[in-house]
Amino acid sequence: MENNRVCELLNIDYPIFQGAMAWIADASLAAAVSEAGGIGIITGAAPTEWVKEQIREAKKLTKKPFGVNIMLMSENAEEIAELVCTEKVSIVTTGAGSPGKYMEKWKSNNIKVIPVVASVALAKRMEKAGAHAIIAEGTESGGHVGQLTTMALIPQVVDAVNIPVIAAGGIGDGRGVAASFMLGAEGVQVGTRFLVAKECTVSQNYKDKILKAKDIDTEVTGKSTGHPVRVIKNKLSRTYAKLEKEGVSVEELEKLGAGALRKAAVEGDMDNGSIMSGQIAGLVNKEQTSKEIIEEMFKEADERFNLFGGKHE
Ligand SMILES: Cc1cc2nc3c(=O)[nH]c(=O)nc-3n(C[C@H](O)[C@H](O)[C@H](O)COP(=O)(O)O)c2cc1C
Repeated sequence: MENNRVCELLNIDYPIFQGAMAWIADASLAAAVSEAGGIGIITGAAPTEWVKEQIREAKKLTKKPFGVNIMLMSENAEEIAELVCTEKVSIVTTGAGSPGKYMEKWKSNNIKVIPVVASVALAKRMEKAGAHAIIAEGTESGGHVGQLTTMALIPQVVDAVNIPVIAAGGIGDGRGVAASFMLGAEGVQVGTRFLVAKECTVSQNYKDKILKAKDIDTEVTGKSTGHPVRVIKNKLSRTYAKLEKEGVSVEELEKLGAGALRKAAVEGDMDNGSIMSGQIAGLVNKEQTSKEIIEEMFKEADERFNLFGGKHE
């Protein structure tokens, strides 16, 4: 895309990121998205050795740039922060905290740093800390969520910072891309729709849940623990919500949630697993390759918003 700061910054064709997804976003998905002209992201919320293998595997699958997501609160954050330098990863997205202390090192290793934020205050802090761009994520999204909707968050963040803003949360087709650009974003990050990409290795049961989901099928649990998460309603989420209402301790709730995403994503357990998903799942109803998803989204956006100046084919 011409005259787009995200494409220029990262040397890519389409300003779209595949959002990091713990237990899910591996080399297969990330490389497919990057190969199609976007940015694939490998989850860094995993053992360091696994992340290293995935980076090396992705490099075999594509010569194009891809990223690694670092959850700054995780135990091995320090190790992953080092790993992206030694493995020469070109992009890092961060969550759960401030990447300030790693910034100099990453920058001297030529890494583009793009934190995920859910508020104007954090966006400003990240810009000051030296971030190259920012991903602003609305509460419609799957996984851990903030309070503001994408519609309200994006224009406020866009007004508050000078670096490019990438919109996330609730973007599932070309209309979502066009709307994000209307709000001032210069790129999008998509999670839920990529869950059903052919190259996504999440369990088929998980994919089927996304494909069948309706608009009102997600809910947010964990508000009382300070770590709210959007999931598709199931046996686990109902138990969790009930216990939360009864006021059980945070420790007990955390015990119930521990390992639950893995159960759903890897084992395909749709009763006791945590089926993280965004509200846009109701719109996601076909399995496609990552390339088809990206091309379809931008063709549709272009028709509505002339993103490519009519040059998209
Ligand atoms: C199953 C799932 C797991 C996720 N895990 C993470 C994660 O580990 N780290 C992170 O920064 N974001 C995570 N996210 C958020 C995505 O990276 C992305 O920002 C979000 O899905 C965008 O909203 P959407 O789902 O409406 O497309 C997750 C999302 C989903 C659906």
